[in-house]
Amino acid sequence: MDTKALVELVGRLTLEQKVALLTGEDFWSLRAVPEIGLRKLLVSDGPAGVRGTTWDERDPSLLFPNPTALAALWDPGQVRRAGALMGAQARDKGVAWHLAPNVNLHRSPLGGRHFECYSEDPVLTARTAAAFVEGVQSTGVASTVKHFVGNESETERMTYDAVIDEATLREVYLPPFEAAVRAGVWSVMAAYNSVDGVSMTDNGPLITGVLKDGDGDGVGAGAASGLGLGFDGVVVSDWFATRSTAESADAGLDVVMPGPTGPWGEALVAAVRGGEVEESVIDDKVLRVLRLADRTGFLAGSDPLPPVTTPDDADAQLRDIAARAMVVLRNEQVGADPLLPLDPGSVSRVAVIGPNAACLTAQGGGSAHVNPAHVISPLTALAEALGPMVTVDYAQGVVTQRLLPAITPETATDPDTGHPGLRVDFIDPAGDVLGSEVRQASRFVFMGGLPAGTAGIRVRADVVIGQAGNHQFSVSGVGAFRLVIGDNAPMKITMSPSAGGDLVEGLVKPPEHRVDVEIETGTVRLEVVAQVDANLPIAMFGLNHQVPGPSEEELFQAALDAARAADVVVMVVGTTDEVESEGFDRTDLLLPGRQDELVQAVAAQNPRTIVVVNAGAPVEMPWRDSVPAVLWAWFPGQEGGYAIADAVTGAVEPGGRLPTTFPKAAADAPVLSTAPVDGKVVYAEGTMFGYRGYAQAEIVPAYPFGHGLGYTTWEYEDITAGVNAAGDVEVAVKVRNTGERIGREVVQIYLACEGGDPQRDDPPRLVGFGTTLAAPNEIATVPITISRRVLARWDVARRGWWVRGGVRELIAARSAWDARIRTRVELAGS
Ligand code: BGC
Repeated sequence: MDTKALVELVGRLTLEQKVALLTGEDFWSLRAVPEIGLRKLLVSDGPAGVRGTTWDERDPSLLFPNPTALAALWDPGQVRRAGALMGAQARDKGVAWHLAPNVNLHRSPLGGRHFECYSEDPVLTARTAAAFVEGVQSTGVASTVKHFVGNESETERMTYDAVIDEATLREVYLPPFEAAVRAGVWSVMAAYNSVDGVSMTDNGPLITGVLKDGDGDGVGAGAASGLGLGFDGVVVSDWFATRSTAESADAGLDVVMPGPTGPWGEALVAAVRGGEVEESVIDDKVLRVLRLADRTGFLAGSDPLPPVTTPDDADAQLRDIAARAMVVLRNEQVGADPLLPLDPGSVSRVAVIGPNAACLTAQGGGSAHVNPAHVISPLTALAEALGPMVTVDYAQGVVTQRLLPAITPETATDPDTGHPGLRVDFIDPAGDVLGSEVRQASRFVFMGGLPAGTAGIRVRADVVIGQAGNHQFSVSGVGAFRLVIGDNAPMKITMSPSAGGDLVEGLVKPPEHRVDVEIETGTVRLEVVAQVDANLPIAMFGLNHQVPGPSEEELFQAALDAARAADVVVMVVGTTDEVESEGFDRTDLLLPGRQDELVQAVAAQNPRTIVVVNAGAPVEMPWRDSVPAVLWAWFPGQEGGYAIADAVTGAVEPGGRLPTTFPKAAADAPVLSTAPVDGKVVYAEGTMFGYRGYAQAEIVPAYPFGHGLGYTTWEYEDITAGVNAAGDVEVAVKVRNTGERIGREVVQIYLACEGGDPQRDDPPRLVGFGTTLAAPNEIATVPITISRRVLARWDVARRGWWVRGGVRELIAARSAWDARIRTRVELAGS
């Protein structure tokens, strides 16, 4: 529909109707307005898959590799493919409006949402985000680029003030948003935090000045029109982020989420009637919402959407993307060959060791979480890939989970029917049952949608006790609970989140109350009642159970025994979603539990040890030089086990490159602390974080930005560069595959120091990249176009973009620390 037709629809609504449309109807939707043919618009997280409007196992979602893994592809084509697959699932779930991608940068490796963000580099982040948006939106589903802007920390996340100087904001933190807008993104999410003292939901200079004003031609537009992006989509608040009425409305925020209550509603109607807010301001917001509805086919008369549905080979696609994104960090010769890839025909006994081998961390914690229909463990997949001729011994080695294991339907039955599952009753204050359901999981998230009058949620299950002894049960969650185990007297438990009452923290880092019970074999009845606050019909809690088992020391010793007996060891170590999550930052970069000690001890037993690291964000790997092979597997999603097996055996080349620097030790990071001081996070390092910060401080990382060995070797033979008519630089790099396998190379182009002015004599920065596939001994030419805008910097005095003219050096490299070949190009100044 054209703008005129949309404006006409806006004109048919009353002020009350218009304002009502601008706050969510509930947690995950905007209301329908049948009078103008507007259907209810469903909204859903997020960057690792489309969760839909419920948060449980009954509505499963495809679980993708985490976003940093997508960035590790360094391949917009593959990222577009992932986006299109996610869009297809959104269409199947009836979702119009998808809350991804997350383009905040890896400023500190401790950032809690590091796993959810792409990279430490703005160029790689921008290219990845643009491709993701193109993929999702090609299906007729709106993407939401988030969190605008300065949202690099989780500590005091609802309130901190990010203090960022203008040049840094323009050169580093805004370009990914700019790229998404140029790629045509239909929505932007305003962050919780403030920037330079103004809450992002109230931030007129950034929302209106930078995003919305202008004509789309950002280059040299100067300050008055900001980046001049001319964004015509919807700016939606992060959930519960909006704290004002007129300020946020005038700043350019379009939609407040979630609803139905919030700071707009009647207060905004009154502000318009009182003359505090112009009605035209409201009309513009409604116009933008209707434009989004039209683009996503939720408005009568919209163009038909492309006929898209989740393809039959979705699992296979996820497996392929996950394997390609994995990064070979190290691969030394053991005997005649490097240890990876592992030929199943060359071994007869393999020890698979480590907590993440049987229990893969497929995703991080927080709002990005989805419920996959299944998760393939590395143990299952490796056993399958190695085949029946190979004996596989498994040893967990150490315990890393903070919470007790969740109760599963394999051991729990509904007391009312005897069928597998847990019985959930919604009860009123008198204890009468208002509704009931049987669930196949024991970690519950209820966000709205409870029967009216619900005062408590009661969960009952008969749990099979296969082994007599000391069993531990626990309730994890935030709130007040009553727990009854067997005939034991009921106990009351009240648990509150550790900080600030942030709902998400209650979800991702719940306190836990444990009880020890001596039980004989048979079954035991478990009942827990969670109290529900009528004003906030939300409940999040879990029921957990630990059966008697070997001690930690016994687990550790069993791993060493298995290692000794094996031809080869595949260790799968890593973090968990209790360590890497939205809602809090990490406090260190250590693998949880005794995993470092386990790797050292196992490698001492067996020199043929491959370590697979299953984590979203960097960890210290103090043992990295004492094992021959390290494969970085990310949080690889539901098919992760298969993808790991494919990468280990070489069925797929793990061709990923690090999108972020891995330090030897946390203290080496140019920026470490994420904690606000007096409410402020000061970005004092400017653009000198990530690989540029390491280079400036001359600190050698464990594995640099851009690093990844793949399974072959490359020579860089030639490079040429010239400026085209548009002022962009065209580079061509000739590379030869000097190894014995077909392989994929990522050619990275860095611009050498900005030069001239010693104050700006900065380390090289990434300005472009390209990929190629080549057979052994084949030469491939990789063309890379570097836009003039990427070469520009922000001139604070002139308040515009400038390019320093003259002869500049371009470096073709295999990582930020592995320059291969250089050339010079003459740039016109501006
Ligand atoms: C997160 C957003 C998310 C929203 C809805 C917030 O806590 O910051 O990224 O989209 O919740 O779940």
